[in-house]
Amino acid sequence: MTDIKYGLAGVVTDDTAVSKVMPETNSLTYRGYAVQDLASQCRFEEVAYLIWNGELPNKAQLAEFEQQEKAERGLSDDLLAVMKRFPKQAHPMATLRTAVSFLGLEDGDIEDHATDRLYERSISLFAKIPQIVATDYRLRNGLEPIAPDNSLRFSENFFHMCFGKVPAPEVVKCFDISMTLYAEHSFNASTFTGRVIASSLSGIYSAVTGAIGSLKGPLHGGANEAVMHMLQEVGTAENAKAWMLDALATKKKIMGFGHRVYRSGDSRVPTMTEAYKKMVDILDTEEARKYWEMSRILDETMVSEKGIYPNLDFPAGPAYYLMGFEIPMFTPIFVMSRITGWTAHIKEQLEDNKLIRPLSNYTGPAQREVKAIDQR
Ligand code: COA
Repeated sequence: MTDIKYGLAGVVTDDTAVSKVMPETNSLTYRGYAVQDLASQCRFEEVAYLIWNGELPNKAQLAEFEQQEKAERGLSDDLLAVMKRFPKQAHPMATLRTAVSFLGLEDGDIEDHATDRLYERSISLFAKIPQIVATDYRLRNGLEPIAPDNSLRFSENFFHMCFGKVPAPEVVKCFDISMTLYAEHSFNASTFTGRVIASSLSGIYSAVTGAIGSLKGPLHGGANEAVMHMLQEVGTAENAKAWMLDALATKKKIMGFGHRVYRSGDSRVPTMTEAYKKMVDILDTEEARKYWEMSRILDETMVSEKGIYPNLDFPAGPAYYLMGFEIPMFTPIFVMSRITGWTAHIKEQLEDNKLIRPLSNYTGPAQREVKAIDQR
């Protein structure tokens, strides 16, 4: 009897030095550093450098890295022209997938796996994906795209390209923290997809395009979007407790709660929740206070009724909404961050590559003879 691990659940398929998920303590480290410490003490650019290079940068290394990122910003006229012709009803994850594939065409869809070339391409994708996301948002809303501003840092520049202005530092910080928290999570479905594609030596653009396709699915990325739809359905803070009790009584899945690995809380959540709260205080609008209050009550009710804790998507969803992003942009924003983890894994895969090719247990008909067509 073949022992099949459906969904590869519990199967260790390779070594990795990029991140460590520790279910026993509900915690996560990138290259040995606790993710909550990185979020509180470093900017996202520092974390990206760490994920790729294995060490945090010193001042000179960070300055050089930021220069490299800025130098790679900017989309070609050809890509902008293609993006203008994207169907307006297409999901932003589908347009992002196509745009990244197009970047591969422009780069000769390289199959040169030299480590330095992979690093250059990783920085290029890191620099260009935010502009693709922002440009797609503006085009689908009938607005002219905004070019990147190289006087601005990564997160500031993204707000600038979306809205033509940079919000209060607390809002930018909240966004930057979310980037750090979403950056890497070991062998999740999209990262594994990227590694599988890379293992056939297909090239970094194919691997990242495939990873985007994987993240697009609602069982993987997309929960932060679902959280926001849920909050909109709840409607008011006064309604929150009754809504949750009713949802639990009718056995609904509550979006933004529970995790396959973290069973009693996710170490990324307190950091994201604190940043979300600081942003709410700075925005100081009725809408911001409403969503905060609603989140707080839903969280308290879920924990006290079921002992199921929120995951990162629970605070990230409303935080992105209050920053002004449209709900379908939430998963593309996740890509802006996770591109760091994906490309670090693609590099790691290629450094000691073995084609990923599992076996299957055949359940079809036994071997039989082909009959001539007039005898079937
Ligand atoms: N809402 C309501 N009940 C939930 C729940 C949720 N979000 N998450 C888990 N549970 C319940 C299950 O129904 C199950 O109850 P039962 O024992 O009475 O059947 C129990 O908790 C155990 O959960 P289980 O289904 O074994 O967890 P899992 O590991 O299969 O699922 C998730 C993990 C993430 C898929 C699941 O929690 C979920 O769908 N969450 C909502 C979507 C989400 O936020 N996804 C983002 C993940 S980062």
